[in-house]
Amino acid sequence: MTHVFTIAIDGPAGAGKGTLARRLADHYRLNLLDTGLTYRAVAYALIQHALPLENVSAAETAARQVDLAKLDRAVLSAHAVGEAASKVAVFPSVRRILVEKQREFAKTPPGAVLDGRDIGTVVCPDADIKLYVTASAEVRARRRLAEIESIGGTADFTEILADIVRRDERDMGRADSPLKPAVDAHLLDTSEMAIEAAFLAAMAIIDDVLAKRNKA
Ligand code: DC
Repeated sequence: MTHVFTIAIDGPAGAGKGTLARRLADHYRLNLLDTGLTYRAVAYALIQHALPLENVSAAETAARQVDLAKLDRAVLSAHAVGEAASKVAVFPSVRRILVEKQREFAKTPPGAVLDGRDIGTVVCPDADIKLYVTASAEVRARRRLAEIESIGGTADFTEILADIVRRDERDMGRADSPLKPAVDAHLLDTSEMAIEAAFLAAMAIIDDVLAKRNKA
């Protein structure tokens, strides 16, 4: 049986794990799933139908309808959708439905890079490599502000920072599958690191694991 290779990447919003996941999936020729988009898709469906985010049964229905092949990043990347996603992500029944789809995806050869909040702890606890990517809230807020300004927008640093802190609290404080590093995760703090350096650091960790395995 061919071994399906899994790289699990977790971390808070804005730590750079999405870009890192894409670079690693390209480099190691693996499938890629940004699991945040699945929670965003559920939130977006509720918003579209003008349903309250607390409506668990509607959220469950929306979760069942999520098609991993049809996640539209352009539509789902809006800031408000991310906020709403963090709210529907507290419901255990919604998580169960999405986690099942994420696990199916991970099982497809040749394997995948999945990024999110609970990949190393819940979705793929047996992942070959687990990375926990983080950066200080201030650095993440500064990066988000730069991103907004680079496309001609304006925003207030203090508000962005408050938003990030609030989202961290919700994602780390929820009862079901809170954001936290798996015990066997490699920590990657990107506060002082550009994305290229983070990619090289992650590659070094992965290549080391692969080399040890080939020797065994
Ligand atoms: O990574 P993101 O900003 O697209 O995620 C949006 C929200 O979805 C995040 O604040 C919490 C939730 N989420 C989750 O609970 N578990 C995941 N594996 C991924 C995202």
